[in-house]
Amino acid sequence: MKIEIQNLKKKFNKNYVLKDISLTIEKNKSTIILGQSGCGKSVLIKTIYQLFKIDSGSILYDGKSEVDIDKFSMLFQYGALFDSLKISENIAFTDYINNKTNFHKKVFSLMNDVGLDKSIFDRYPSEISGGMKKRVAFARALYKNPKVIFLDEPTTGLDPINSDKINDLILKVITKRKVTAVSITHDIKSAIRTGDNYYFIHDGIIKDKGDCKKILKTKNKIFKAFIDGADLKY
Ligand SMILES: Nc1ncnc2c1ncn2[C@@H]1O[C@H](COP(=O)(O)OP(=O)(O)OP(=O)(O)O)[C@@H](O)[C@H]1O
Ligand SMILES: [Mg+2]
Repeated sequence: MKIEIQNLKKKFNKNYVLKDISLTIEKNKSTIILGQSGCGKSVLIKTIYQLFKIDSGSILYDGKSEVDIDKFSMLFQYGALFDSLKISENIAFTDYINNKTNFHKKVFSLMNDVGLDKSIFDRYPSEISGGMKKRVAFARALYKNPKVIFLDEPTTGLDPINSDKINDLILKVITKRKVTAVSITHDIKSAIRTGDNYYFIHDGIIKDKGDCKKILKTKNKIFKAFIDGADLKY
């Protein structure tokens, strides 16, 4: 699905978080959203997902303003697994809450796709590692065969080896399943590895955009400072 955003504004109370955002998410490509903590990245993808209403501007989904959000799924920033549910029930959550019980085969297949061992099928989230939790969250996001998948910091909190594993997984899934992916990350290496296009948000607007493979060649001073981990308040 192609998603076109024009002059999007979003405020909470009187504070504009997104002041003027225009960007295009290309069909079956991987778009990366970058920016300092608190700049509105999560708000942006939740707005695209229609969890928040926009204040002005427009979002077109394949040219239309209406969209069936059942075609979307999201890996939330904080994983959001249900502690009282088994791994299998977390993955098949949409069917589980509707009292459907024939999800075992599909769950096993997805666990295999994301590299989770069958033995954790009946375990609870507290019994598995952080990297495994991210995989479970990823499998849950894939469960309904989304056309668009939003990944809010899929590798944050993981060590470099597990981050690389999740990044490989993201690449594999995007290619194999032909989905449109929109990811937020703080990790430039992940952006280069898993992204096609990037957008860098600063002070409520898009300050830089381009090809992820050319991120390190950016001429944009603020983005450069962000990459170098410098203070952006100037
Ligand atoms: N539901 C809400 N109600 C009021 N303010 C909100 C709400 N959600 C987010 N905000 C505010 O919007 C701003 C942007 O938040 P957001 O979570 O999008 O940041 P972010 O770029 O994702 O940061 P991080 O990298 O730390 O996750 C913050 O100032 C936050 O307090
Ligand atoms: Mg966020």
